[in-house]
Amino acid sequence: MEKIIRQPTTIDEWKAYFDLRYRILRAPWNQPPGSEKNEGDQSADHAAFFLNGEIIGVGRLDLFENEYGQVRFMAVENNYQGCGIGKSIVQYLEDSSLARGDKGMILHARENALEFYNKLGYSLVEKSHLQFGEIQHYLMSKDYVDRK
Ligand SMILES: CC(C)(COP(=O)(O)OP(=O)(O)OC[C@H]1O[C@@H](n2cnc3c(N)ncnc32)[C@H](O)[C@@H]1OP(=O)(O)O)[C@@H](O)C(=O)NCCC(=O)NCCS
Repeated sequence: MEKIIRQPTTIDEWKAYFDLRYRILRAPWNQPPGSEKNEGDQSADHAAFFLNGEIIGVGRLDLFENEYGQVRFMAVENNYQGCGIGKSIVQYLEDSSLARGDKGMILHARENALEFYNKLGYSLVEKSHLQFGEIQHYLMSKDYVDRK
């Protein structure tokens, strides 16, 4: 089994990358195709988890502010959730963030993902926005001095 995390490169890989984002983070809430992308995709760093050449997990690293990165658009294929893929993607994004000199990371976690980020060393800061009128998000953060 070949496992690798890297940025997509070919047109087909980018298509699979955004398609996974759409199916996991948008389609279940009847959001239109295209809603899975935003202008930040041009400048962000992207991580795709490839299993035998197929993308089964994705995540994006933005530059937030004050030398903090931001994890966004984390999604793992339904059948592969709970197998350590999300954890390895977040660690990959943290490595990229550390390498460029960030002090830490912030993110807005969906309620269902709070425990996931907790296990990765993120602390709850405050309740943040409500997405699509129903998905409560929570601001979480992590300083790399505390990185486990
Ligand atoms: C949230 C998500 C990205 C996590 O990725 P994943 O590959 O399923 O998570 P992992 O298998 O790497 O989990 C790492 C640890 O967190 C735990 N965990 C993961 N999801 C969890 C959940 N929903 N509730 C409680 N614990 C969870 C795992 O049990 C594991 O614990 P362990 O290290 O003690 O074994 C993925 O489940 C997903 O795409 N969910 C749907 C979309 C979503 O909510 N995205 C996040 C938006 S903020």
